[in-house]
Amino acid sequence: MTAGQADALQRLWPKWGLDIDGQRVVDLGELFGNDNPVVLEIGFGMGEATAQMAAADPGTNILAVDVHTPGQGNLLSLADRNGLNNVRVGNGDAIILLREMLAPDSLDGLRVYFPDPWPKKRHHKRRLIQPEFLSLAATRLKPGALVHCATDWEPYAEQMLEALTAHPDFENTQADGGFAPRPQFRPLTRFEGQGLDKGHVVNDLLFRRVER
Ligand SMILES: C[S@@+](CC[C@H](N)C(=O)[O-])C[C@H]1O[C@@H](n2cnc3c(N)ncnc32)[C@H](O)[C@@H]1O
Repeated sequence: MTAGQADALQRLWPKWGLDIDGQRVVDLGELFGNDNPVVLEIGFGMGEATAQMAAADPGTNILAVDVHTPGQGNLLSLADRNGLNNVRVGNGDAIILLREMLAPDSLDGLRVYFPDPWPKKRHHKRRLIQPEFLSLAATRLKPGALVHCATDWEPYAEQMLEALTAHPDFENTQADGGFAPRPQFRPLTRFEGQGLDKGHVVNDLLFRRVER
């Protein structure tokens, strides 16, 4: 961790940090200080893309969650330097956050950009985007909420497409039922850049939480 990241964590965690301890349901209006829509981003890494998206859309609150401490410091520092008031940083497991700390129908969107691909077959069960995860996420998302995933690992992209397509709580925004063109609002992420350097193909998926 750099000195700047450590300093940002120390200074800004009390103001903008959320400890994911599974002990309470979070009042999102209180956390952000307003009732603007809230999008959950799982696994923001170093947070550069998160900060860019927050700056481009100040009317949307981003609850950004990761377990990676230097990244948390980096995102807090970026938010501070860019005067972003719409980012809060969660430390811990996104599953616990969803299951224990977010109320039903509390989220206006979900972003999962370049989740760990777990390429080995015996590790596939560790992948985040699975039917059980989608069922949990669906309970926390408002009807009409967008779920946006991206990956540079093609077998995982196929698995995501299959799981989302098969899930009754989600519908594809793409008329042909396939991957989505990368929306302009998603900046290139750090992990994506590394994948592109290796010649990987990036796929975006844009699904909607259906009406109940
Ligand atoms: C491959 S990195 C991608 C980071 C970033 N989105 C990017 O594209 O550069 C995946 C990130 O997800 C985080 N992560 C994995 N599982 C998680 C979980 N259950 N809860 C929160 N973060 C998680 C990891 O710590 C890591 O930072």
